Amino acid sequence: MTEAQQRQAQHYLTQAKRVVVFTGAGISAESGVPTFRGQDATWKGMPAAIASSIGLLEQDLTTAWEWFDYRRTRLKAAAPNAAHIAIAQAEKHFAEFLVVTQNVDGLHQKAGSTRVVELHGNLWRGRGLRTGKQYDLPDAPLPTLPPRGEGDEPLRPDVVLFGEMLPAGAFETAEIAATRCDVCLVIGTSGVVYPAALIPFAARDAGAAVIEVNPEATDLTPHVTLSLRGQAGDIVPRLLAAVSGA
Ligand code: OAD
Repeated sequence: MTEAQQRQAQHYLTQAKRVVVFTGAGISAESGVPTFRGQDATWKGMPAAIASSIGLLEQDLTTAWEWFDYRRTRLKAAAPNAAHIAIAQAEKHFAEFLVVTQNVDGLHQKAGSTRVVELHGNLWRGRGLRTGKQYDLPDAPLPTLPPRGEGDEPLRPDVVLFGEMLPAGAFETAEIAATRCDVCLVIGTSGVVYPAALIPFAARDAGAAVIEVNPEATDLTPHVTLSLRGQAGDIVPRLLAAVSGA
């Protein structure tokens, strides 16, 4: 990020009343959470995309849970980084502010963000297979798999699996905020997974300034107003400091 780019981004943010922050795995990279692309992750010889699929869950709920509980256990020690914290502190400075995340790690909430739409669910919750009722599952590893809810109902991870739709209402809420915002900050996403990746386009098409923060160029880069190269933990606090007057 050049100084001129930093000033330009800060200008957009200090003028803004409504902000959407759209995040992907890259915002949690500096918290030690692995990103998805650029690696061929496997678990017990299974590609991660198969382990995280609705097909495996329907076939073998316990094995599907073993994979998610492995991820949960690895995630347990992860703490929000400077980017999550700066975003959480920024929300009170805007009339409207919404974090729209593709991440399932819960780190935005852990940092203190209160207005978060989770497009892909949350690893720290389970959902009743019959009732759809959501349960907080803070333990990792879980004592028994699959975990069970009221009436001994088996639970599934409350995350969006490959081959599934997004949770009802989540995308719609995000899209409405995107079409109303003045600035959309796009942080740490490759922008290749849809419909999530439509959010920056909805903001741009409605006239918002779209500011990307990523160490690399992405599919979204040609479509944004400003693309800032660098790590989220470095750039995001510098941009948002202008808003909080820090
Ligand atoms: P990806 O793994 O596709 O992309 C991560 C992005 O973060 C890349 O563009 C990296 O360059 C960038 N990045 C890496 N380190 C960074 C840092 N320190 N600061 C800022 N950016 C950094 O992850 P997503 O775009 O989130 O879906 O992937 C989208 C979806 O694909 C996920 O939500 C998941 C996956 O399939 C589901 O689980 C349904």
